[in-house]
Amino acid sequence: MKRVFSGIQPTGNLHLGNYLGAIKNWVAMQREYDCLYCIVDLHAITVAQEPDELTNNTREVTAGLIAAGLDPKNCIIFNQSRVAAHAELAWILNCFTPLGWLNRMTQFKEKAGKKRESAFLGLYAYPVLMAADILLYHATAVPVGEDQKQHLELSRDIASAFNRAYDVDFFPLPEPMIFGAATRVMSLRDGRNKMSKSDGSDYSRINLTDDADSIALKIKRAKTDSEPGLAHDLERRPEAANLLSIYAALVDEPMERVAAEHSLMGFADFKSKLADLAIETLGPIAARMRELLADPGYIDGVLANGAARARHIADSNLGEVRRIMGLLDA
Ligand code: TYM
Repeated sequence: MKRVFSGIQPTGNLHLGNYLGAIKNWVAMQREYDCLYCIVDLHAITVAQEPDELTNNTREVTAGLIAAGLDPKNCIIFNQSRVAAHAELAWILNCFTPLGWLNRMTQFKEKAGKKRESAFLGLYAYPVLMAADILLYHATAVPVGEDQKQHLELSRDIASAFNRAYDVDFFPLPEPMIFGAATRVMSLRDGRNKMSKSDGSDYSRINLTDDADSIALKIKRAKTDSEPGLAHDLERRPEAANLLSIYAALVDEPMERVAAEHSLMGFADFKSKLADLAIETLGPIAARMRELLADPGYIDGVLANGAARARHIADSNLGEVRRIMGLLDA
């Protein structure tokens, strides 16, 4: 069976971009494929983390995934640092990754900004750890949002470099699976920027824990333009396109159909329809998350059990890597 792997960072609130770009697709895939979903705490520490917050965020993201519909009986949910093989394979793959490849990574350039010289090595090597995550399980399908595409291409290059170096066909090349109507959800305050956890304004994003009133208010205040009607010339109207694609993803319909259906509607009416829809979808997720978080023992049990199952696959594949490379074992 096709193996699916994907990851999410435990850094602050889950938002609508995470849900529509990734988590919703993870839920849809869990019954058909052999899926591993990882809370990537080792990726999170590439920027400073407060210890208690990291623990709480790891539990909160796990609760969010389960509340959104992942069933630990149908997939493996675990936190990355528990399976030591991720870090070990990442080190090995560092030895097959030319600096030139990492220098092209736009996410590093964005995050390091002008402070490149003082940026940490972990942030630079972030995409190599991502490649290790995926390749460790021989996963071939990786459901992610649009922003991870470049990292996935790098994972393929690293896998090929290893295979070439030892003249083996060991690592399969992973495919990014970027699907749904909202593969890149944009900020509600500026349709040219991605919706993200790190945006200073909470009005830029809808968090999975927001209550109905905040969701309604954030959508009401979302930036628009002054053109009459919302569904024309979308290629030059990022805010209108964003609201329509969020709607389309929530109802699971193609963007074109949603645009056609609302061609005569103005922003105010559409926003109120969108707010109702978002509240209807996200309300139950937030409620379930609260219930789950009231029982951290259950969450910790899910992660411990997931890690044991993941370790089983990871250790066996890492053993093969060591054998291929001639690293003496026992
Ligand atoms: P992270 O935690 O930033 O995001 C988790 C997932 O959410 C998607 N996403 C979005 N999709 C649409 N619109 C948005 N505005 C938006 N913001 C976030 C991301 O594309 C992602 O799929 N590096 C990864 C985590 C990772 C990983 C992996 C992913 C670590 N190892 C191995 C796949 C395979 C990340 O930072 O995701």
